[in-house]
Amino acid sequence: MCSCKDREQDPQTTSEFVGPIIVGAGPSGLAASACLSEHGVPSLILEKSDCIASLWQHRTYDRLKLHLPKWYCELPLWGFPEHFPKYPTKHQFISYMEAYASHFSIKPNFEQNVAKAEFDPTLGFWRVQTQKSQYLSRWLIVATGENAEPFVPDIVGLDKFNGSVVHSSKYKSGSDFRNQRVLVVGGGNSGMEVSLDLRRHNATPYMVVRNTVHVLPREMFGFSTFGIAMSLLKWLPLNMVDKLLLAMANLLLGSTDHLGLRRPKTGPIELKNITGKTPVLDVGALSHIKSGKIKVMPSVKEITKTGAKFMDGQKKEFDSIILATGYRSNVPSWLKSEFFTKEGMPRTQFPDGWKGENGLYTVGFSRRGLLGTACEAIKIAKDIADQWGAINDLSEISVIPNSSHLEKSQAT
Ligand SMILES: Cc1cc2nc3c(=O)[nH]c(=O)nc-3n(C[C@H](O)[C@H](O)[C@H](O)COP(=O)(O)OP(=O)(O)OC[C@H]3O[C@@H](n4cnc5c(N)ncnc54)[C@H](O)[C@@H]3O)c2cc1C
Ligand SMILES: NC(=O)c1ccc[n+]([C@@H]2O[C@H](COP(=O)([O-])OP(=O)(O)OC[C@H]3O[C@@H](n4cnc5c(N)ncnc54)[C@H](OP(=O)(O)O)[C@@H]3O)[C@@H](O)[C@H]2O)c1
Repeated sequence: MCSCKDREQDPQTTSEFVGPIIVGAGPSGLAASACLSEHGVPSLILEKSDCIASLWQHRTYDRLKLHLPKWYCELPLWGFPEHFPKYPTKHQFISYMEAYASHFSIKPNFEQNVAKAEFDPTLGFWRVQTQKSQYLSRWLIVATGENAEPFVPDIVGLDKFNGSVVHSSKYKSGSDFRNQRVLVVGGGNSGMEVSLDLRRHNATPYMVVRNTVHVLPREMFGFSTFGIAMSLLKWLPLNMVDKLLLAMANLLLGSTDHLGLRRPKTGPIELKNITGKTPVLDVGALSHIKSGKIKVMPSVKEITKTGAKFMDGQKKEFDSIILATGYRSNVPSWLKSEFFTKEGMPRTQFPDGWKGENGLYTVGFSRRGLLGTACEAIKIAKDIADQWGAINDLSEISVIPNSSHLEKSQAT
């Protein structure tokens, strides 16, 4: 897509790129690049990892499948192969993204960790700094994801534990924990699925759920719960849809409160919209919780050398601990912009959070998964394409005053 000539020995090398710079080669970065190329706008993707979709390739467990039917997880312009099942495996999803990148001739610059990006008002350009080079562009598209960095909470005594402690991003399979007593901290989708996987490998999971949580079946009466919610929302107000979903969930799953999975007062979709907290879509863990094979535990008070003490006074011995404690955006660590909160999310809420000031865009931060990504990528590409079309004289945009060591990148 582009040939940015980096001089590895010279960290001062500055490359100007005529099109937008996209930070991150996950599904969001790829979708933005594909949509831009459809409008004839070249883009440059800077990716810190060594591959596309690094979250899916390096930081997910073996048994992971998409939770939502494939038609809600397609990237724009080029869908999943027809033969894929309704809920593709992570391997199928990765192969789809590789084919997607290849179809749109997307060739990210790998091992380019963006350490700093800021708008230079004098130039009217974004300065984007990696460990190797500095890039300049009129447009910056942030696509580093809501789940950029594993979140490891401060838990008293965790450093004293004698067994292994891993974050769910490093967890691959329960086969590594066969016959072990495992403390799984966190009852989100990762915590539930890791616990289920551990159980299937004959380990004994104890899952810490410290807060309220909505557990919904993945499907209701043969239709995806997410799909039902999307359809109902076209006709009914949100609070009504939440009520219907909860009524159906109670009918199909029964009350979950007595299992230690207390429902929040706010409905699942409203809660997702307000806080970003995703409902758990059950793919089998709940039946093991009901039969007592996955044990739900209250908050951890303290980790000891051999186990844990819990807030309700229980003490248990464990062989391993898995922290299914979620992820955080890393945007505040590298982007200088008031557009993002200190948590690394756009200040402007959905549906307007995709566009900031001075040519700044965000894709994949709408808390609406891959469906949100697809909508935003389309909007961003159209918006930039309109500006691109208005700038007829390309030589005009490539004149940058006062810049030394300037190399011009060639869009292909
Ligand atoms: C276990 C798990 C399962 C999930 N399953 C689903 C699902 O079924 N459906 C769904 O819709 N969503 C799911 N998600 C949410 C998931 O985050 C999105 O589907 C999707 O990966 C988001 O794509 P993205 O491109 O926005 O972010 P990411 O996939 O996180 O990609 C961001 C990219 O940016 C790169 N990057 C980060 N910082 C920098 C930097 N400073 N410089 C350069 N590059 C950088 C990263 O290396 C990464 O490659 C899941 C998440 C997890 C953790
Ligand atoms: N198959 C799939 O599609 C699939 C599978 C897995 C994940 N995902 C998606 O990936 C994203 C991340 O999911 P996730 O489950 O990894 O993270 P998550 O949804 O953020 O859940 C993290 C959990 O850890 C808990 N936690 C954090 N710190 C804790 C502490 N100190 N003590 C006890 N509990 C603590 C949180 O509790 P609080 O709520 O109290 O903070 C929460 O329950 C979500 O969007 C999810 O839907 C999808």
